[in-house]
Formats: sequence, C-alpha cells, structure tokens
Amino acid sequence: MNTADGNTVQLAPSAGELDDLELLMTGALAPLRGFGTPETGVTLTTSRDLAPRLSPGTTVELVDPEGVPLASLEIQDTFEEDAATVGLVGAVRGLTRREGRVFDHLYLAPEQLRTGLPPETITVPSARPLTEQDIDHITAAAAGRPVLLLALVGEGRPEGLSATGLIRASLAAAGLIGNAHVVAVPLARRDRAGADGAVQDRVVRAYAPAEVLETVGEGPLPAAVEAVVRSDRPTGTARGMVLFFTGLSGSGKSTVARGVRDRLVAEGHRTVTLLDGDVVRRNLSAGLTFSREDRETNIRRIGWVAAEIARHGGAAICSPIAPFASTRAAVRRMVDATGGAFVLVHVATPLQECERRDRKGLYAKARRGDIPDFTGISSPYEEPDDADLRVDTAGRTVDEVVDDVLGLLAEDGLVDLDADPTGSPAGRGER
Ligand code: ADX
Repeated sequence: MNTADGNTVQLAPSAGELDDLELLMTGALAPLRGFGTPETGVTLTTSRDLAPRLSPGTTVELVDPEGVPLASLEIQDTFEEDAATVGLVGAVRGLTRREGRVFDHLYLAPEQLRTGLPPETITVPSARPLTEQDIDHITAAAAGRPVLLLALVGEGRPEGLSATGLIRASLAAAGLIGNAHVVAVPLARRDRAGADGAVQDRVVRAYAPAEVLETVGEGPLPAAVEAVVRSDRPTGTARGMVLFFTGLSGSGKSTVARGVRDRLVAEGHRTVTLLDGDVVRRNLSAGLTFSREDRETNIRRIGWVAAEIARHGGAAICSPIAPFASTRAAVRRMVDATGGAFVLVHVATPLQECERRDRKGLYAKARRGDIPDFTGISSPYEEPDDADLRVDTAGRTVDEVVDDVLGLLAEDGLVDLDADPTGSPAGRGER
C-alpha cells in the first residue's frame, strides 16, 4: 500500500521488507546500509504505478503498518522486478525504532549485545525449537561459557510455529541450559536460491561475539519446550479450524453449514461461529456491492475474522459464494499462518438445480436482467481445484451431506465423533 503525502512519497513495506529494514537500521546486515539489487538478497519493491515519482535522487519515507515513519530512503537507482513492480536501491536513514511486537525488549541490535556479553560467549542461531540433543550439545560445547540463543523469527520463519512460540520455546531452552540469553532476530525468509543462507550467515555473524554453534535438531524436545510448542500449535480437536463452504447461491451451503454447526456444538470441543454469506453482508460487509472488487473485500473480511477465530482455537464455518479462486487462496494463507486447519468444501450443486430451487426468487430476477452480475448467470464462478471435499446436494438429504463433511473432519483428526455431548462418562457409547 502506498500513500502520497504532500511532496514526500510514503511507502509501507511488506512484512518481510520491514524485517530487512530493521536489520539494516540495527547494523545487523553490515556492511549493507540500504536496500540493494536482487543479488544482495535485501530488496524493497513497490508498485510500478508509483515509478514516475521514484526517480533517483528522490527521498521516500518508509512507514510501518500504522503509518509511523521508520526510516527515509534516498533512491540511488531502481530496477525492474517484473511488469508490475519496481525495486528501489538506496541507503536508509533510521528515524524511529520499530515497536509494538510481543517480546519487543528481546529484539536487540548487535551493538546492544556487544556491551553486555563477554567475548567468549557462544552463539546458537535457530529457527526451530531446540531438542534434548541440541541442549546437551550446547551445554557440552559451552562448558560454562555464556550462551546466546538467536531466535530467527522474521516473515516466513519459523515454520510450523508462531514467532512468539519460537521465542517462548527459546526462553524455555535457555532455562535448561543456564547462563543463556535469548535475542529475537527479525530475519525474513528469502525465496531466491542462495540468498537466504548468505543473508542468514551475515546476520548471525553480526550478532555473534565469537564462536557460532550450529544445531542438528534431531530427537525429542525437552518437556518444557514441548509444552510451549503444544500450546502454540495445538493438534487434533484442540486445533482451531476454518470450514469454508463455497458454491453458487442456492446450492445449499448455508443449510449444510448449519447442520455441521449443530454437530460441532454437540461434540463440544470448540466454540463455533457461523459466517454465512447473506448474514455477513448485513453486518460485517454492509454496503458492499457484487462487483469483483467488493466480493474480494467481502471474502477477505470473512477470512480475516475466521483466521482470528482459528488462532483462538475455535471453529469458524463460512458459507459465502466466494467465486474467485485467488481470494479463496488468500483466505487459506491467512488461516495457515495461524496454525489452524483450513478445510475447503465445494458445494457443487449444479446451476440448473440451484435455479430450479430459487428459494429467494433471485435467479428469476437475474434472468430478467433485474439483478446485474449474478453469480452463475452474469458473473463467473471459478470452480475450486483445491477443495478437500466436493458435495452435490441434489437428491440427497442434508444429514447425508453433513455426515460427509464430518467424516472428512474426523479423518483429519479435527473432530472426535465418539465424543460424548453430555460430558458424562456414563453417556459414552449410549447414543
Ligand atoms: S460473494 O460473491 O461475495 O461471496 P455472498 O455469499 O456474500 O457473495 O452473497 C451472496 C448472496 O447474496 C446470495 O446468496 C444472494 O442471496 C445474494 N445476492 C444478491 N445479489 C447477488 C449477485 N449479484 N450475485 C450473487 N449473489 C447475490
């Protein structure tokens, strides 16, 4: 997102670029002092639309998502990333320290460590929780010397754990090692082959007072670390989930969604929120139209709320049309990022059957031309090729379809169909 303010161009870098900016500002990427060409692995790109205002010699302000100016960048050069994006090359000058993250006080600059840690400290970088074997290895190698644990927690890292989860796991490991300090390093993952490792080496070197120790990470986790991982990424029936129904208007999404909700509530493992298409459009998305853009906004809002519900371990059941594959994919990514499960169900009742039902009389109106951009009639529906389940409600009872959906969730370990809804041990098996 870019906004222009008077004569200063403001850019809001992506999450990964903000991580790089922070490393540049703290000197962790030294001798780099600014964003460079793709070969450096440390790049800043923006929409080509702004290119006319981004000529060499121009200074732009880099702001955080709340609009706080973090640094200024004097453009020395630009490069073409692709047809839609342009890269900016230039030194950055820090204005304000980035803040607002959980464990903010652990995001230290290399320089802040140099004064506090003795030169014999050994440094252990890690983007995953340390295992029992790692801890033994570190303890033996340290032989009483202080240990610096670098938790690598930038955009796209760690995998399978939240940033705060890795930091908590590192703090737990530090407690087991003794005389160990944890520092969080905002090191984003780079897709470019070779760049990721090279940048990581440089950053770790900047932090390490002396020796760097790599870990192998095999075998079980110590109990204290395991407990953190389990609470950060619950599994099975404790894991948050988003059940996302997509399909034409009148396909039966809402009816099936309600049926599944009833069963999940009875099963009792999670709180359940229903985000029905028509209902969402009366509140969360009131005022939006059925243009492509507004439909995307609608689905992103639903996805945002659903992902938060999943983050908190609940179940969100969504049933909008969601006609566009790219928007459904965006929701999947949002949910994946929380560690919750995303389950896509295509309610593939044929258009002919939806139109025959026409419970709201909308298809007749759309055919008469009274409703423009009606999905299936005058607006496209992109069939999913990534659905976890495809159901056709024509000629089937709601219960049968609900059973299919619950069967899938049970297969994935997300529900326990044998659970007793009364919570009493005596009730088990008596239904
Ligand atoms: S979506 O495309 O943005 O996912 P959403 O599920 O919120 O759609 O809303 C669809 C519901 O809005 C339909 O079930 C129908 O009742 C109503 N509706 C009104 N106008 C349209 C339209 N042009 N296309 C599709 N549905 C419409």
